Amino acid sequence: MTAVSPTTRPKLTLSNPELERKVMECLSPLVLTEDQQQKVREVFLDEMRLGLAANPERTSSLLMENTFIPELPDGTENGEYLALDLGGTHFRVIYVRMKNGRFSEEVVDYFHVPSEKRLGPGQDLFEFLADCIAEFVQKRNLGGRNFQLGFTFSFPMTQKSLDVGILVSWTKSFNCPGVVGEDAVKMLNDAIHKRKDLDITVKAILNDTTGTLVMGAYMDKRCALAMILGTGCNGCYIEKVERIEKWLGKHLESEMIVDIEWGAFGDNGVLDFIKTDWDRAVDDQSLLVHSYTFEKYFAGKYLGDLYREILLTLTKKGLMCGGKIGNLHTHGAITTTSVSRIESDTFKGLLEETKMVLNDVKLNHDDDDLHIAQYVAGIISYRGITLVSLITGILLERMQRNHCTVAIDGSLFKHHPRFRPLMEKLISEFAPGRSFDLRLAHDGSGKGAALAAAIAERLEQKRSLTNSN
Ligand code: BGC
Repeated sequence: MTAVSPTTRPKLTLSNPELERKVMECLSPLVLTEDQQQKVREVFLDEMRLGLAANPERTSSLLMENTFIPELPDGTENGEYLALDLGGTHFRVIYVRMKNGRFSEEVVDYFHVPSEKRLGPGQDLFEFLADCIAEFVQKRNLGGRNFQLGFTFSFPMTQKSLDVGILVSWTKSFNCPGVVGEDAVKMLNDAIHKRKDLDITVKAILNDTTGTLVMGAYMDKRCALAMILGTGCNGCYIEKVERIEKWLGKHLESEMIVDIEWGAFGDNGVLDFIKTDWDRAVDDQSLLVHSYTFEKYFAGKYLGDLYREILLTLTKKGLMCGGKIGNLHTHGAITTTSVSRIESDTFKGLLEETKMVLNDVKLNHDDDDLHIAQYVAGIISYRGITLVSLITGILLERMQRNHCTVAIDGSLFKHHPRFRPLMEKLISEFAPGRSFDLRLAHDGSGKGAALAAAIAERLEQKRSLTNSN
């Protein structure tokens, strides 16, 4: 086998041309045509318009939410902060010290969030978070003083201020009753105040994309767009307040970070024209059905399942592995990490990882089966990357910056070998002539939250100065 570049369109070549034709035909709904790409572009632009409008004619699937962060780090950040990061199966508590705008010390602890906390009553979840904070403070000898805290809460929220975040809906692997419609900061504060050993002031609640943008700006002042490509998927960008009709008269700031919540793009049906039966199957088996359409097309929580569903169809149709389905009916039997491993085989011209993945799900295979397995991993990844690159192109065009650094964090971007190179190529095609670079903003959701707490303090000081003058 010859090595293939990650930026080339996946190609299928089998020893049996008739089989090749049948497989390609079966999988063709996963290949986005030029027309479909154009339509995705138009629909996204329209959903953005509706999401920013004062009186939209219908509800947008994009939240386009205010983050209440109008400024980025300016180099004056000093002192100690705590940060929390909740969004996946690991909760993190982080301590940082900042000196003249730079991180001078950082300590992080991870706590596994068991499924009974992710799915049980909300109050239990927040009490669990407070327990973890207390354990961290005690273990690290940080007791006896007040901490300002930034809380990364990686779920869709409606913010009323920098320290009020009302949960709109759970996503990914969380579904705790009693939190939707409530302020996550209040719930955290209640849990903290129940204990007598914590002295913490929650200064800011933010989404992980917001943290990533703030962290991106810490690394490079030209950063104006950030995204998470991980278990979930979302983006935020800097918008001119004068273009946000729904806030007119409510904000004096000139710019604001807007949390798009693009994972929900298409929840109102506007993206159904690219939805396949496999996407429907993934959605049906997910924890929160009929939500987060765009995210389910390719994010890390779902890509492995999408892959498994497609192989299940191919085997059932007798187009692969002698028509035997092995363990393919088991939800979760193939992970997104396996899809990444298969893709790296493709780019190295190897078959070893691909064989291992198929063996793990008890599939017998010949060489044609392995090529089909690689082709499927290629086309679903290619489709996801095309979708996210289309949106990125639109945002770069909208912001019209001389140069825009795009801060990105998340396991898909870090570990899936096709993401970065293909995004670079496709974004250049979708936003021709725009200067940009993709920058890994490692730990935006942790350090970014600490930076947000520092920005919140600065904004408060500015406000009290203005009020006293
Ligand atoms: C959440 C977003 C978050 C994204 C990445 C999505 O499921 O709704 O708020 O930014 O995951 O973690």
